Amino acid sequence: MSVIVFGSANVDLVMPVSTFPMPGETVLTQSYHPVPGGKGANQALAVKRAGVPVNFVGAVGKDHFADCALSLLRGEAVGLEATIVSDRPTGCAVVMVDTEGENSIVVASGANLDVRAHQVSDALLQSNRVLVLQQEVSFEENESLGCRAQQAGLKIVLNLAPATRIPEGLLANTDFLIVNEVEAKFLAGAQPHVSMTELAEHLANTYDCGTLITLGPAGCVVASGDEHAFGVDAPGVEVVDTTGAGDTFTGYFAALLAQERLSLRQCAAGATQAASLACTRMGAQSGIPYAQDVLRAKG
Ligand code: RIB
Repeated sequence: MSVIVFGSANVDLVMPVSTFPMPGETVLTQSYHPVPGGKGANQALAVKRAGVPVNFVGAVGKDHFADCALSLLRGEAVGLEATIVSDRPTGCAVVMVDTEGENSIVVASGANLDVRAHQVSDALLQSNRVLVLQQEVSFEENESLGCRAQQAGLKIVLNLAPATRIPEGLLANTDFLIVNEVEAKFLAGAQPHVSMTELAEHLANTYDCGTLITLGPAGCVVASGDEHAFGVDAPGVEVVDTTGAGDTFTGYFAALLAQERLSLRQCAAGATQAASLACTRMGAQSGIPYAQDVLRAKG
């Protein structure tokens, strides 16, 4: 195994809408599709589709949604030995997708609240190179696992999504921070006129870690103490659904990092290519491309 993803698994109830409802408003749509999702599970599948072995460590309930939530991970041989069954219901997200492919999401955490750092044994930690964390499971459990992973010599990739709290203790152990524009501004405190490059440099210096800010169709900016900040362009694509694009970016970045022979620029470029392709298909997990699709698209 090369990568551990510690995080959430959900069933996404995907609802196409013409516009997002305003407070007090009801919007009708014809149908919905229950599909596997959750930032952690999406990122684990992205690692696997990038061609790198991965263990997903999470929790699901004892309900029918559990099968749906883990279906693609099981089907594609993601390691699930450390994923547990909880008494709470499987996590569930209502994912509204508008005609531009933008989304608006509400997550009911359920079983994700029971994910614990001790599910990851020392043996599992020691047999991996990269740990991926996000913020849909307990803040304290992320910090505790991050501390053990740092001591065990793993590279820690933190996707600060959703940006609900700033995990200062965990950031101290983070090697690579991945945030979108909103999350970057949240972390830095409101700095209205600062450029994304300046923001990435500020975060990289403040937290002493490589920082990648994803910018949707504009690609990403990357800063680290080792070289000048740089941008990576995204290829133009026809956007159908942006759900899971950030997870694809994070999973591919972690997978490329785990191979230990690529530069930061190469890892960021591969992650950007994969995330762009993910936007061309509906669904968080069904949209994640395989490594050969990314290579083919690069031409
Ligand atoms: O990042 C997209 C994911 O966020 C969805 O799959 C949904 O489950 C929420 O966790």
